[in-house]
Amino acid sequence: MSDNAPTVIHRRDYMPPPYRIETVDLHFDLDPHRTVVRNTMRIVRRDGVPADTPLELLGEGLQLEAVTLDGVAAEASDADGRLRVAAGRASFELTVTTHCDPAANSSLMGLYVSNGNFFTQCEAEGFRKITYFLDRPDVMATYTVTLAADKEAYPVLLSNGNLVESGPLPDGRHYAKWVDPFAKPSYLFALVAGKLVALEETIQIADGTPKLLQVWVEPQDLPKTRHAMDSLIASIRWDERRYGLPLDLDRFMIVAVGDFNMGAMENKGLNIFNTKYVLADQQTATDTDFANVEAVVGHEYFHNWTGNRVTCRDWFQLSLKEGLTVFRDQEFSADMAAGEGDAAQAASAVAVKRIEDVRMLRQTQFAEDAGPMAHPVRPESYAEINNFYTVTVYEKGAEVVRMYQTLFGRDGFRRGMDLYFQRHDGQAVTCDDFRQAMADANGADLAQFERWYSQAGTPRVAVETAYDAAAGRYRLTLRQHYAEDRRSDTPADPLLIPFAVGLLDAAGRDLPLRLNDEPESAAATTRVLALTGAEQTFEFVGLPIDGATPTPSLLRHFSAPVIVDYEYDDAALAFLLAHDSDAFNRWEAGQRLATRALLEMAQTLSAGGQARLSETVVDAFGKVLADDTLAPAFREQALTLPSETFLAEQMIEADPGAVHAARTQMRGRLAEAHAALWQRIYEAHRTDGPYRPTAVDAGRRALRNLALGYLAELPDAAAATLAETQYREADNMTDRFSALGALARIGGTAAQDALQDFYRRFEHEPLVIDKWFALQAMQPDGAARTIDTVRRLFTHPAFNLKNPNRARSLIFSFCAGNPAAFHAADASGYAFWAEQVLALDALNPQVAARLARVLERWRKYVPTLRDGMEAALQRVMAGARSRDVREVVGKALG
Ligand code: PHE
Ligand code: ZN
Repeated sequence: MSDNAPTVIHRRDYMPPPYRIETVDLHFDLDPHRTVVRNTMRIVRRDGVPADTPLELLGEGLQLEAVTLDGVAAEASDADGRLRVAAGRASFELTVTTHCDPAANSSLMGLYVSNGNFFTQCEAEGFRKITYFLDRPDVMATYTVTLAADKEAYPVLLSNGNLVESGPLPDGRHYAKWVDPFAKPSYLFALVAGKLVALEETIQIADGTPKLLQVWVEPQDLPKTRHAMDSLIASIRWDERRYGLPLDLDRFMIVAVGDFNMGAMENKGLNIFNTKYVLADQQTATDTDFANVEAVVGHEYFHNWTGNRVTCRDWFQLSLKEGLTVFRDQEFSADMAAGEGDAAQAASAVAVKRIEDVRMLRQTQFAEDAGPMAHPVRPESYAEINNFYTVTVYEKGAEVVRMYQTLFGRDGFRRGMDLYFQRHDGQAVTCDDFRQAMADANGADLAQFERWYSQAGTPRVAVETAYDAAAGRYRLTLRQHYAEDRRSDTPADPLLIPFAVGLLDAAGRDLPLRLNDEPESAAATTRVLALTGAEQTFEFVGLPIDGATPTPSLLRHFSAPVIVDYEYDDAALAFLLAHDSDAFNRWEAGQRLATRALLEMAQTLSAGGQARLSETVVDAFGKVLADDTLAPAFREQALTLPSETFLAEQMIEADPGAVHAARTQMRGRLAEAHAALWQRIYEAHRTDGPYRPTAVDAGRRALRNLALGYLAELPDAAAATLAETQYREADNMTDRFSALGALARIGGTAAQDALQDFYRRFEHEPLVIDKWFALQAMQPDGAARTIDTVRRLFTHPAFNLKNPNRARSLIFSFCAGNPAAFHAADASGYAFWAEQVLALDALNPQVAARLARVLERWRKYVPTLRDGMEAALQRVMAGARSRDVREVVGKALG
């Protein structure tokens, strides 16, 4: 196989495996440099497979020691990462003994060492780095695992399932034996060994059975585990309540590790987490960190049913488990946030969660869908599966699942889930199986809905409206299409789009809506229209005769992952921002208003002109600012301008410098025009009493810190004083870090002093030092150029390229989180990017490929930047060796 053309794997080529592996008995002799793995498998040839079909097990970087077939040394050839065994029988026991070098494993896939302890990561194809196996998700086996290791260095020995035996061995070693009663694919295997301690709790689930819950961490981190444990308990309760899904093992363990490529991993009964999503306390974690821990703990726990009990037939079906599980964790977080206050607070908390998710979807997934890596929720092909853990598979996949709920309601969705588990528990299945369960449980035909899985690109829905005041009729014409320049050859047929709408009267009240063929009793204020054709007209009747033209509220709560094209004028947007009963669309109106203003300003600046912010916009935002009836968390969202990344994506040719200048100017103008209001908000939103990371308190802090940020845009010294005081007096990381951010923006010696103080205070807290690096990498160019700061920090003793969190905190924060500085005209950012992609490529291809993706949209940028990007991409293409990076860069250049 040539290095230039990596093998591409196609969904249509799926074939079931010729052999089944029914049981796996693994024995590990753990040693950091030479771990010996003895793997005994009971293997059965599948019916109808010719007897002379060789068994081919996959392996990567393994040293083969011995192979025995039914206890007798066997012939086996070991080439190209495949172990071929001529078994010649229908059922047999195969033992393969290999060894590997975990301490030398910097890819963090397979078995590796982190801070002296052993961990594994097997999804998607890491199990083959541990032993030879049919390393594919449709091979489900039950596992028995024995771990043997030095007792002093590795007192704790964990694997999936239940502990059945443990004890001493000669030479200061000891062992533990674990049995997982549930058949599972190899990607869910895990082991952990080392010096760890656990926060433990025993709970009873609904049927009364006791369950042992553990959160394992390094000893110094034990005080930071309470929130993860509470989140785990809440997740268990929620899945029982909402879906009737119980915890099926006697014990459930979460383990934190400081070196991890992703967020966390749902290994059966032994979830392994990036420390970032486990550890949290008031002093070191922000409100966002607390919320993320809750969401990720929930996500991995929910995988126990959606992913583990029912798994994926092949990796093209990844969204079957990820889209569904992201949807479930979103719903969980929304319910948790809503559980605190009164009904109005609850509704607002749910809207805020939706806003956060949609903001992220639009910023990242819409861009992915418009670029060279565009792929459907269920991809058709890949070179490296690690590159397909994408926002399309995860977040767009979650939107697709959400649409079932929008179409069938919560109860209908639950019926579909029940049927899915009834049919497929214990199986490895496809996205089609899930869709079929939803259809059958609801007596619906979801054939057209399949297109959401097979068509790439973001659909656009163009809306036209016509109001016949004399007849009290309102017509809505919806047209769906994909953008002309969609970069995908998947079909572009009309989708089934649930399109939620409302109509507001002149006073801003919802009008009851009834379609022309419906009885009066059908009227509701939000209607979910089922758009199935390329173009369709819906007519609402029975509206007040001779009333003023209603204002449409389109795609309420973002009922489908599409872009709505409708010619709102500024006045209509300001009106919706002030009145829409749908909180999501209220926010949306503000974002549209701000986006349009910012794009106009950026265009003007890009052409060398002077930009001005319209007073309509200044006033509309002032109204939100002054409206104390709005929940603080919602107000914070409404007053947060669209990100620079999102804005650049909306330009015909992205100009990050102009976007940054426009956004800075708008922030400055909003700060100055409403200085007194910002000041009042800052004063009025102190949180009294002890720190609690609840949605309500977090919302108050967020709004107050947003106010501080706006005040920091003003030229006077007052904000610096506020920020300094807040920095010093803060009793929690949210307030301290926000104050540090405000000081850093203001600059000068106060900023330098605070940054130094912050480092000294948290020198021994890696997750906080990550924040310290990130904050500096995300500063706009000022007296010093940020690229110079980043290069200097690169040589800081605390910087470590091998640790993914640290690499992300400095390198990704600069390359992806600081567009204006990164896209400097002299291409200095691109040179840095190319160096770092190549350095990471040699260490950790998965992380390198993520960084490589930062430049995949290079064709979108103004011509003056394109050449520099192309040159950097070519440099990486010439030097990169991993399939991961080569696939990404190859597609970007192709
Ligand atoms: N399956 C993990 C999750 O979604 C993500 C993951 C993928 C982690 C690959 C590690 C490696 O939660
Ligand atoms: Zn997941």
